[in-house]
Amino acid sequence: MDFKEVIQSRRSVRKFRAEEIEEEDLREILEAARLAPSANNLQPWKFVVVKSDKKKRLIAQAAGGQEFVGEAPVIIVACATGRGGFIGGYMESWPVDVAISITHLLLAAWDRGLGTCWVGDFDEDKVKEICEIPPEVRVVALIPVGYPVKVPQEVPRRPLEKIMSKDVFSD
Ligand SMILES: Cc1cc2nc3c(=O)[nH]c(=O)nc-3n(C[C@H](O)[C@H](O)[C@H](O)COP(=O)(O)O)c2cc1C
Repeated sequence: MDFKEVIQSRRSVRKFRAEEIEEEDLREILEAARLAPSANNLQPWKFVVVKSDKKKRLIAQAAGGQEFVGEAPVIIVACATGRGGFIGGYMESWPVDVAISITHLLLAAWDRGLGTCWVGDFDEDKVKEICEIPPEVRVVALIPVGYPVKVPQEVPRRPLEKIMSKDVFSD
């Protein structure tokens, strides 16, 4: 797929084929996450790759019972490991940094025929307990990954004119 096609065709996938993910595919998508930009190049991320059926079931429960999360062959738990960077002098950069690297991963996955869904609705303490994540590390997202059963329908976006303005901010 060319870059534009990857961006345009990616969808959140919530139904996965019962098929293991090729190790090479998994490595490639983590490699895409590794190469993401970050404030001061701090790279404040760590990805826990969960394949254990028991842990996947527990994680799905911790995600408010979103069952599809546990049905994926792999769940990647995206964590923030570091602090220190700031944006505009006021906003901590780690959530942004980790979000960028997750986005790299999502797009690289789609390019390789893998579906993902960014899952932000979860009980952080429970996920930390299941995956033995240290207290100072934050969980940013759960990412179920697997080969899609089918490509979901497009979800609408606001038009370009509504999301940009020229020279100054305007509604
Ligand atoms: C920060 C964030 C949190 C999200 N949390 C959830 C979630 O908990 N469960 C879910 O099914 N989808 C979740 N999504 C996926 C969005 O619903 C989805 O990206 C959006 O509806 C657009 O659809 P698309 O990804 O297919 O383009 C989340 C996405 C983001 C970026």
